Amino acid sequence: GRVLSVASEYVPLIKTGGLADVAGALPGALAGQGWDMRTLLPAYPDLIARTEADSVLWSDPDLFGGPARVRAGQVGADTVLLLDAPHLYDRNGGPYGDPQDFPDNAIRFAALSWAASCIAIEGLSDGWTPDILHGHDWQAGFAPAYLRFAGDTRVRTVMTIHNIAFQGNAPAAMLGQLRLPFEAFNSDTLEYWGHLSSLKAGLATADAITTVSPTYAAELMRGDFGMGLEGLMAYRAGDLHGILNGIDDAVWNPETDPEIAQTYSRTSLGRKKANRDGLMAEFGLTGIDGPLAIVVSRLTDQKGIDLIVAAAADFVAMGGGLAILGSGERRLEEALKDLARAHPDRIGLRIGYDEALSHRMFAGGDAVLVPSRFEPCGLTQLYGLRYGCVPVVALTGGLADTVIHANPMARQAGVATGVQFHPIDAMAFGQALRTVVDLHRDTKGWALMQKRGMSQSLGWDTSALTYAALYESLTA
Ligand code: ADP
Ligand code: GLC
Repeated sequence: GRVLSVASEYVPLIKTGGLADVAGALPGALAGQGWDMRTLLPAYPDLIARTEADSVLWSDPDLFGGPARVRAGQVGADTVLLLDAPHLYDRNGGPYGDPQDFPDNAIRFAALSWAASCIAIEGLSDGWTPDILHGHDWQAGFAPAYLRFAGDTRVRTVMTIHNIAFQGNAPAAMLGQLRLPFEAFNSDTLEYWGHLSSLKAGLATADAITTVSPTYAAELMRGDFGMGLEGLMAYRAGDLHGILNGIDDAVWNPETDPEIAQTYSRTSLGRKKANRDGLMAEFGLTGIDGPLAIVVSRLTDQKGIDLIVAAAADFVAMGGGLAILGSGERRLEEALKDLARAHPDRIGLRIGYDEALSHRMFAGGDAVLVPSRFEPCGLTQLYGLRYGCVPVVALTGGLADTVIHANPMARQAGVATGVQFHPIDAMAFGQALRTVVDLHRDTKGWALMQKRGMSQSLGWDTSALTYAALYESLTA
């Protein structure tokens, strides 16, 4: 079968977070299951050149205020469909605007969704017609809705929630401008507290909904995680599937990683030390006799960065060290800068986005801290497992589903891979860090835990099967 995937990010072309990794990995993972997936993406600056996209497979003289063409480009074995609409996407400053969101984002991504729905109905000029439209997050939310409103029932639709906190709300007055029918402006379909919600539109109209972990799927039906959509999620429980993300284990592999000083494996874990030394030097850290913890994260409330700020002084007093890489909210950047200034030998900070450095950090770190308030799946704890960098995570979402907590029974049974804490507050996180310091002192036990993490299966195989089974059930 054929799947049109619709996303605003895609590794290796454009990334602000894990959505990009997942959208970029799915076509390869599903190809192995006999599904031919093409991904529709906005043609942000340079993407056409970088993918050598020339052939025009679809066009529209007026896509929300200007001409648009879909050009097919190539990324390795995958075909990407770039929506070339200069009036919407030929702009500097990140996919959504940077530092401030573009004021017309509602239109920019409604256009992406509109084009997706047209392609689903009409097919492309090379004869390719999808059986399934699979949209990711709010940016693709109107796509299943447009299909439904157009009366199409042939193409099956799937919406994946990577993060329900972003809902793509727009003023109700934009209804006509966004080509939405007035009858659908009701609380079952488009309306969210008097506004239009593109995510809700997708979740209300898609044949199936997935999210990126089973625990987050369950959390979405609760008031404390559903962000106002918990009622709709509970109503659609029978169509909601939690499917864990995988990681690209060709890129994230300490045995072959070209970004790291010293490659290593489960059976040569001792060689990890060279990476640790290098990382300490790179961050100017000295005199750390406890665990060297790392953080690689967007700096936002979701990620619990304030908990790190609150717990760091005690952690370094116990002998721990901290290397932090991230960017995001100004307030959190400043708090981390103060922290690093107060403990120059123990806490190192890089503000920015640096893929290569992130590899060196997982290779050099003893533990990775992920104290998120909510986490649909999370990828950094998975990289941590792969690199023998023990995850210390909040008990929520995908973090709950991928880390086996080192409680006494799990340790005795020899199955623990990390440390989880709950409730998600500074005290519980501080206690988890104390546990980490204690566990790390037991050199042998720690090494066993690292090796166990490194032997977990973290690739896409299992989840690709689950997506394929879902597609098959929808098209049967
Ligand atoms: P989210 O998508 O919510 O940000 P994920 O854990 O799913 O969380 O994905 C984040 C991705 O972005 C991971 O691949 C992580 O390594 C990467 N990342 C986040 N911040 C940085 C940074 N400052 N430098 C390099 N990579 C980063
Ligand atoms: C979102 C979530 C993150 C998830 C990623 C990919 O950005 O915040 O938990 O891993 O999407 O699905």
